[in-house]
Amino acid sequence: MNPKLFTPFYVRGLTLKNRIVMSPMIMCSCDEHDGMVTDFHLVHYATRAMGQVGLIMVEATAVLPEGRVNDTDLGIWSDEHIEGYKRLTSLIHKFGSAAGIQLIHGGRKNEFDNSLLAPSAIPFDDDRNIPKEMSIEDIKEIVNAFKDAVNRAKEAGFDVIEIHGAHGYLISSFLSPLSNLREDEYGGDEERRYRFLKEVIQATRTTWDGPLFVRISARDFHECGNTPETSVAFAKRMKSDGVDLIDCSAGGVVSGKSVKILSYPGYQVPYAEKIRREANIPTGAVGLITKGEQAEEILQNERADLIFIGRELLFNPYWTMKVADEMRHEIEIPRPYYRDRVGGRVRRF
Ligand SMILES: Cc1cc2nc3c(=O)[nH]c(=O)nc-3n(C[C@H](O)[C@H](O)[C@H](O)COP(=O)(O)O)c2cc1C
Repeated sequence: MNPKLFTPFYVRGLTLKNRIVMSPMIMCSCDEHDGMVTDFHLVHYATRAMGQVGLIMVEATAVLPEGRVNDTDLGIWSDEHIEGYKRLTSLIHKFGSAAGIQLIHGGRKNEFDNSLLAPSAIPFDDDRNIPKEMSIEDIKEIVNAFKDAVNRAKEAGFDVIEIHGAHGYLISSFLSPLSNLREDEYGGDEERRYRFLKEVIQATRTTWDGPLFVRISARDFHECGNTPETSVAFAKRMKSDGVDLIDCSAGGVVSGKSVKILSYPGYQVPYAEKIRREANIPTGAVGLITKGEQAEEILQNERADLIFIGRELLFNPYWTMKVADEMRHEIEIPRPYYRDRVGGRVRRF
């Protein structure tokens, strides 16, 4: 039987050639503090595309300058950014992968600026300033910034948009009852805490009819925080608002100083599995998935639809080719590499 890892995945008019996604990873590699794509980004992402990853998810990219987490993060807040992303998507496409971009506003976890924004005036930890509680006007402005960013991403040739709704950044801080103590229509019960994300999704959908993913923290690891059950409820809402896949991460709303998250191989897979089953929406699993057979178990048992690989791909851009070889499954590899092929397999692995 062919490994499911190497079967295509169809999502809203897009076919991914396999189930492997490069997980979004901020690289803090802009040369200036301008959010522009650099040679580093071009080589870094194109190498993973050459390595046969199905979908390259470009790192958290800020929709506004003050929405960066770090001042060397990528940005997409102006039309001047588009050209760099055009070069990036065309390289990713040239080497046979699809290109996604994760859009972020860092909110109260912005690490370089003191003018922090959040649903409520609660700092992330003792080292950060108290954020400003956002006015309705602030909220509308940021929803619009997401929409403008989506338009630019579309012009730049991206195939997938992922909204960063995880890890305690702005959207996530609205979703969590730990960071959102508002008493207006954006805070309170789960429907109200979801409202900001709903508006971002709706704004995205006015201009984007392609695949739309949302990354969430499926669990806050705090007795008063979001749980996998709350996340199922959010996922049902997202599905009905036009989201195609939930990328299931966890944590980050509460500082690591007060909450210790135990991580082990596949530690977040149960969230992808639960959300997929109970909200009936495709999911992505992420977190210490490093082996082909581990990914295969997740897919064969229908626990998730896509496998997001983070750190393993940082250190081994050719992970996909290696895993295919270990599974004795032949995949396309860059033509010049065939020179090393013996008996239909890549000899060097
Ligand atoms: C250097 C680095 C940067 C990261 N940046 C992001 C990011 O931009 N957006 C995001 O959602 N997660 C980010 N993450 C989390 C990863 O996407 C992934 O969820 C996490 O590393 C767990 O997967 P892994 O065990 O395969 O690395 C980052 C992780 C690392 C190591």
